Amino acid sequence: MNFNNLLLEKSEGIALLTISRPEKLNALNKQTIEELSAALDMLREDPSVRLLVITGSGEKAFVAGADISEFADFNPSQGKALAAEGQQKLFDKVARFSKPVIAAINGFALGGGLELAMAAHVRVASENAKMGLPELSLGLIPGYGGTQRLAELIGKGRAFEWLFSAGMWSAQDALSYGLVNHVVPQNELIDTARSLAKKFMKNSSMAMSATIQAVNAGYEDGVNGYTIEVNLFGQLFGTPEFKEGTEAFLQKRKPDFNR
Ligand code: COA
Repeated sequence: MNFNNLLLEKSEGIALLTISRPEKLNALNKQTIEELSAALDMLREDPSVRLLVITGSGEKAFVAGADISEFADFNPSQGKALAAEGQQKLFDKVARFSKPVIAAINGFALGGGLELAMAAHVRVASENAKMGLPELSLGLIPGYGGTQRLAELIGKGRAFEWLFSAGMWSAQDALSYGLVNHVVPQNELIDTARSLAKKFMKNSSMAMSATIQAVNAGYEDGVNGYTIEVNLFGQLFGTPEFKEGTEAFLQKRKPDFNR
């Protein structure tokens, strides 16, 4: 598959997706969203990939938001369709991806950029990263899940402050709020994401996939997370990875889930 605005590199079970529109600070235009969506569909089915890292090209920006030039003259129904399509094609797809997704935030993560990072399961940021949801300064609110996911991640009161002030926060602020899991120097960012990935990949992929479904279930309307957990727990007893994990424990060896 050929991409114009994405770079894809696969090694040791990790797919590194780099959003690459450096001249526009990697802003998410329609084409980039389509390409990310197609890449996710492809990587979901790729057995050589067990985990995804998403980052931005260059040293300045992860993603500086949705591409403002594409929606500046939209009417309400076009605006609604923009948000609905984006959520369905990209943001929900990331959040529900069957393999862990780590966002490596290498600079500005604003608006749609922070929404993308928040849809990922784990976030690491470089020391120079700046994060915020500036939509209210444009007369909008976030439309790619930002109002929901920011409140889930940092709590309602802090989320309201971030939203109302439309400001930018440092990586250290984001760390202290629990929005990102780690902050590291920029030249260590991808290695940090990779070493987290390797740590995760020592464990069962099937159980990681079930974990994503179970945790997400707690945030979905009309779904009982505890019931979903019970069902997924039961299903895992029928998997070869459960057999390998328990046999390895009883035989006093390390499990090998890559067989
Ligand atoms: N949409 C479209 N283009 C964007 C963009 C966005 N969200 N963010 C940056 N760009 C473009 C700029 O228009 C500029 O293009 P140009 O060179 O053709 O004029 C280029 O990227 C570089 O950005 P610039 O603003 O010159 O860089 P800067 O270092 O002065 O400022 C930011 C960096 C991130 C502070 C600034 O670009 C910005 O505020 N971007 C918009 C952030 C935003 O509101 N995002 C939410 C959208 S919903």
